Amino acid sequence: MNAFMSSQQRTPYALYLHLNEYENIWGNDSTAPLRALYCAEVLLQQNARMNESDRRPYIDKEKKRTIFEETMRAFVHDTKCLRKLMKWPALSETEKQDIELKIAELRTENRYGQEDTLFASVHLIAESWFAVVHCMLKKCNDELPTKQTADFLKQVARIIEVQQLFVRILEYMSHRDYHRLRVNLRDASGAQSRRIHEVPALARKVFEGFCAHLKKIGVPPLMVLENQQDHVVFYLMLSAFQDLTRSFQSFLFNHYLMVGKILGASSLGSLGSQVNGLVGHAANSIFPELDQLFFDYTQITNFRYGHMSGKVVMEKELQWQVADYSPYTESHDLDQERVKEVVAQYFRCIETQDIRGWVQQFHPEEGQMCDAPGSRPFKGSQKLSVFMKNFFKAFQSVAPQILDLSVDKNTASCRWKMNARTYNDTLLSFSGTETFRLNTGYQIMYALAEYDAEAVATDLLIATAGIEYQKPVQFEMYH
Ligand code: HEM
Repeated sequence: MNAFMSSQQRTPYALYLHLNEYENIWGNDSTAPLRALYCAEVLLQQNARMNESDRRPYIDKEKKRTIFEETMRAFVHDTKCLRKLMKWPALSETEKQDIELKIAELRTENRYGQEDTLFASVHLIAESWFAVVHCMLKKCNDELPTKQTADFLKQVARIIEVQQLFVRILEYMSHRDYHRLRVNLRDASGAQSRRIHEVPALARKVFEGFCAHLKKIGVPPLMVLENQQDHVVFYLMLSAFQDLTRSFQSFLFNHYLMVGKILGASSLGSLGSQVNGLVGHAANSIFPELDQLFFDYTQITNFRYGHMSGKVVMEKELQWQVADYSPYTESHDLDQERVKEVVAQYFRCIETQDIRGWVQQFHPEEGQMCDAPGSRPFKGSQKLSVFMKNFFKAFQSVAPQILDLSVDKNTASCRWKMNARTYNDTLLSFSGTETFRLNTGYQIMYALAEYDAEAVATDLLIATAGIEYQKPVQFEMYH
């Protein structure tokens, strides 16, 4: 007895769609994906024909037709690609007839009008394609990372991407006709689809196999990003995993939008989920590790290229004279102790992570801070606050030390050292100098920090992935 036959698997959804019978069609033999694919094609073509003959004036037939046409085009394209990619055996005429018979049988059982047929077909088509997704992911699981595996994963992503477009046909059902069916269908929900439910776990298995392979050969994922020219296939794999989670998340997100459009966002599904709560599911990546990887790389490159931060924009601003970043040059006699207190408070706020207090040391509109000579200064309270928030993305704690501080009129200069704990728990130490210019109200008008940010990036890379930074070969530009 196969898994779907067990009473446990007979969810109201499975019963509605007769999935246990379909399991026989899809089976587990080598032609399973082709059978599922064929089901999807037949159903889609039948639906397209039926919807063309739909004469109900209140239905948005035009929208439905467009979606059918686009999906047909994508399906036909994908079917060809898949067949080429997987070299599946062809279905015999008898097998095809068997499938068509089963589909016809199911159709005669839909008793709740035209929307029932459409509703059941759309779910069946999606189920058929998710059966193909299962087969492909299982196949990828046995493979080493190669270009073909990456192509395969991209194909899986593409299949799911097409689903999210295609299920939207349901948005153009007649509400009145659908609700009669919906209430009759109480307790059956697409959320009970075992195939869709298992996609993340299957995809994760492939991903974990890939990570284990990288570990075995001593290539940290950060190295794949850093030296992509040496790891082209792995880079393609990363990109394919990204496509995969993106398409699955888009599927869930578009499903949420569709459900909201039909039921209203405050409705409760028959399994007890509130519609507007579904959006949260769409936000979860299947591969949070990838998310972390790209965050790591963002942090590292923020420091690596810190010396040119905002340069492109600043050059244009200065050329068009829409901004002024010239350092404050006015000179006044100020109380030296009060100036020293401003500088001390500036570093104290960094230590206590008091972003508001740190920003308040500056003149609210004209105060600016330049984190590296040549970069675009952060000017005004809002920008200064963003700078500090970003700083605390990189470091969970910082202990700054002022090594020496001298004051001349309204200018203060110091050397500093920072012992920092990075977001990923690495201890880093770096030092630099800073110059401050204050106005007569003891507000900072200009602060310029100088330190080797590239060295911080290098330390962060070594600490995060244990690899050294090699300057990339300059890209050749196309003309
Ligand atoms: C008129 C169309 C649809 C409506 C009104 C609808 C409604 C709902 C509702 C209310 C839920 C929340 C669970 C619950 O309490 O029942 C849900 C979940 C779900 N439905 Fe649908 N659905 C529709 C179409 C589809 C289709 C075509 C599929 C694909 C085969 C599908 C797959 C799912 C999945 C996978 C979930 C779980 C999603 C998650 O956890 O974010 N639904 N649906």
